[in-house]
Amino acid sequence: MSGWRRGLERAGLAVLRCVDPERAHGLALAALEAGLGPGGGPVTSPRLATELAGLTLPNPIGIAAGFDKEGRAVGPLLAAGPGFVELGGVTPLPQPGNPRPRLFRLPVDGAVINRFGLNSAGQEAMAARLEAARAAGAAGVIGLNLGANKASADRAEDYVRLVRRLGPLADYLTVNVSSPNTERLRELQGPAALEDLLGRVAEAAGALVLPPPVFLKIAPDLEEEALGGIVEAALWHGLAGIVATNTTVAREGLRDRRAAEAGGLSGRPLFARSTAVLGQLRRLAGERLALVGVGGVGSAEEAYAKIRAGASAVQLYSALAYGGLSLAGDIARGLDALLARDGFARVAEAVGADIDG
Ligand code: FNR
Repeated sequence: MSGWRRGLERAGLAVLRCVDPERAHGLALAALEAGLGPGGGPVTSPRLATELAGLTLPNPIGIAAGFDKEGRAVGPLLAAGPGFVELGGVTPLPQPGNPRPRLFRLPVDGAVINRFGLNSAGQEAMAARLEAARAAGAAGVIGLNLGANKASADRAEDYVRLVRRLGPLADYLTVNVSSPNTERLRELQGPAALEDLLGRVAEAAGALVLPPPVFLKIAPDLEEEALGGIVEAALWHGLAGIVATNTTVAREGLRDRRAAEAGGLSGRPLFARSTAVLGQLRRLAGERLALVGVGGVGSAEEAYAKIRAGASAVQLYSALAYGGLSLAGDIARGLDALLARDGFARVAEAVGADIDG
């Protein structure tokens, strides 16, 4: 990234720290849309180029769901350095989410708490934005994070509708059953509900002309026994993989005065727990599922640790609120150096290196 853009980003971050966090995020997205983002295109190298469930990535560092919920800045986001982006969560019908304030920074802990409750412009708005972005030349891997409407009587049917409507427009889909801010959503992770959900989602995806890979995104708050059942269900229904993890409802060791806010906690305090879940998934699934590691990544070392615990690709969000969007490309470059240091010719060779015996 050029010097003036980096300077602009730093100045922008300083200003945005003084603004309400949700408003600050909206302004950051608007700046991106206006062409003030890092630019320069995806960071890549022969070591960083890789595959995720058959998709070709220039590097394995992605922007996590929640950053661009409506697909407002797809092209500029892809141009900012990451190897892929996950848009959404999107719900079939528009819904406002929870009352504000619903996003809190915890700078002392390097964390964020949110209780957005899947605010979404709905699937039609997302479809229109995606089509416009593609028509304008947005190039790169775009995943869509799918969520259910709060008021829906049959939540599994919401995912089916989303798969049918948005599946043809996305490179991959993520079934998000782990947002802690939609009441009872995480119950879809239980054995019977998950079986029903994945059966119907897999059928809907399989009926598309070009079925996209489907991932399941899980919470970090599951017991190890539950993970076994989730892996079996994912394999049985032919899912491509699992995104681990969403935000946590746990609150341990936080020092920030905002620590008691209700919602999902993300950022640095989530790193250890989400990486442990990732390692457990790798032990259970081996190479049969593609894993995406997310939770608390803010440095190349942390991204590398996720990869060594079994992640074929890594995502981040909270650290961007503190470090700016250029962090994604910086982490990719740092990862390249770490792989070279350890003698890996390709990032795929390092996947699961800490777990596989
Ligand atoms: C999120 N996250 C999220 N996840 C998801 O599956 N669907 C969503 O709509 C959202 N929305 C969302 C909003 C905000 C404000 C935050 C901070 C997070 C979770 C996100 O994708 C990721 O899993 C966690 O934040 C953990 O990663 P980080 O933030 O620690 O890098």
